[in-house]
Amino acid sequence: MDSNKKISIAIDGPAGAGKSTIAKLISKKLKIVYLDTGAMYRSVALKAIRQNIDTQDAKKVSDLVKDINIEVKHINEEQRIYLDGEDVTDFIRTPEVSIGASNVAVIPEVRIKMVELQRDIASKCSVVMDGRDIGTYVLPNATLKIFLTASIEERAKRRYNEQLLKGITNVSYEEVKNDILYRDKNDSSRAFAPLAKAEDAIELDTTNMNIDEVVSKILGLIEDIC
Ligand code: CDP
Repeated sequence: MDSNKKISIAIDGPAGAGKSTIAKLISKKLKIVYLDTGAMYRSVALKAIRQNIDTQDAKKVSDLVKDINIEVKHINEEQRIYLDGEDVTDFIRTPEVSIGASNVAVIPEVRIKMVELQRDIASKCSVVMDGRDIGTYVLPNATLKIFLTASIEERAKRRYNEQLLKGITNVSYEEVKNDILYRDKNDSSRAFAPLAKAEDAIELDTTNMNIDEVVSKILGLIEDIC
């Protein structure tokens, strides 16, 4: 790969398909920036929840994002997300924030604001970005587009185990699965920039693949085009 060439890798797909794990490893391997766009929608949801605003209230949430300040910093190769100057990275992974993020992500005013920030980062450096609309909307000219999927049972199992590892023991497998099903439906059916596979994206079903296999496959695809 020509290391001077600016590249962008878009990784989209439903919750629990492994996007962030894979994107982080690819970014380390290629020494490029990783941008977790979901964290931005999660931060908007956190702000609404803290102010007792219903995350489905489009009017109130749109007002809320008018003067929101979201910053992404990379500290020790780790993405930290700042909401109005506060590092909220450790507060945005709760089930309540997950559902809230999917709700605020339906609102066009929210998306327009987040996409502006995402495109600005991609215009400055090589990135691997994960989300729902990166290949279809945020970076339509991305160097490589991947659409990562896995069966609902496998995705729920992965997310459930991830939460157990983080010490979250009060959410059952069934609840995790229902949360994912709710978000899949909400994310795929919204009018503005829904979760969808870009026509030129390569779909990888990771149900029976381990992390190393997925990373090797994607690195091979990058080698082929760069
Ligand atoms: O990690 P996980 O797949 O559970 O979710 P996430 O990537 O952190 O995204 C949280 C929510 O933000 C998703 O359910 C989407 O509704 C929304 N999102 C979006 O609409 N567009 C993106 N580019 C990224 C996330």
